[in-house]
Amino acid sequence: MYCAAPVFPTEEQNRLWMERVEDWMQLTGEDPAASYSALKADFTLKKIRSFCRLEAVFAVCREHQWSSVDGFYCYWDPQTQSFVQFLSFFSDFPEYHSYLSDYLSLQCQEQLKDVFDPDKLERFLQTDLSFEHFEVGEDGLTVILDESNLLKEGSSAQLLIPQEYMSGGIVDKIANRWKEYAPAQAGEKVIALTFDDGPNNANTNQILDVLEQYQAKATFFVAGHRVGRGTSATLRRIVDLGSQIGNHSFSHADLNRLSVEEMQEEIRRTQEAVYGATGIYPTCLRPPYGNLSPDRVADTGMHAILWNEDTLDWKNRDTQLLIETVLAKASSGDIVLMHDIHKTTADAVEAIVKGLQEQGYRLVTVEELLALRERQPSDLKYFSQYTAR
Ligand code: NI
Repeated sequence: MYCAAPVFPTEEQNRLWMERVEDWMQLTGEDPAASYSALKADFTLKKIRSFCRLEAVFAVCREHQWSSVDGFYCYWDPQTQSFVQFLSFFSDFPEYHSYLSDYLSLQCQEQLKDVFDPDKLERFLQTDLSFEHFEVGEDGLTVILDESNLLKEGSSAQLLIPQEYMSGGIVDKIANRWKEYAPAQAGEKVIALTFDDGPNNANTNQILDVLEQYQAKATFFVAGHRVGRGTSATLRRIVDLGSQIGNHSFSHADLNRLSVEEMQEEIRRTQEAVYGATGIYPTCLRPPYGNLSPDRVADTGMHAILWNEDTLDWKNRDTQLLIETVLAKASSGDIVLMHDIHKTTADAVEAIVKGLQEQGYRLVTVEELLALRERQPSDLKYFSQYTAR
């Protein structure tokens, strides 16, 4: 069997996942030797909210034609390094059982009245109400119903368990993920410094030294092809210091010139490279050259972040000019564009950080800036959209 294994940070996690794949093979009785010339599993990893959705699609090859036969998926939580179970969304909501029982009973009587099996429902309500198959969405959890849980033989249906039924559960849990970034106080002056095209071990670490010393944060939009070649420690240091890693495509491509699939491949390769180095998937994308037509933002599945102050540091290569430019133009809510591949830029960062702090600015990550609700996106030259993929 050909198997493109998923990239987990540890052997143990990869082993757990492969075990699930093998279980599936046994369950379905697929035997590549018997009837097919080949059987393969393709894996995809997508980020949905703060989780990763892992999908395995199995395909068979008959007479040189691949066709999908089946597949399965699960959710992975990079923060807890574990597979996400349905009930983990309810674990801090002691009354979930009565809420969920009422909701399921009601929906069976209403939208599922032709397909649900009353005996199965009654039995199911006496369990802990865990569903094996569910999807995490913007509105709540969608559970997959079939004859193995609530429905009559041969029936299948989906049921959304909306957020309002999970007060204390999924809503708060997901919302809390976004609240982890210290939100700026009303009236507080904040600026997000951003560095593109790295990492560069020498220059990026010189900048990190300054950020560490002054307890400041920044965002590094990394090019995937520079990730992993001895730069993993630098990437982990960015995360450890509370700064943010963003995605700057894999090969520094002009995304508008690519097909949607090629664009997604550029993004995906960098997501996986950063995840491999740090265990974290970036949430923000900075399209190289700032080129990304707004109608393509949804296809990236990420926040697409431009800037509103272009320092032209890559062109001028002048440390003193860069310091003066940033300090003179600073205003709250700015996203400042610089490049950590240039020594002249790294040399300017201490004076910039010190100068901005003296002007009363707190230096935050782009994600923290996004959490700043008081400024509307239209105020800033960035566009942002989060889309479940
Ligand atoms: Ni760039």
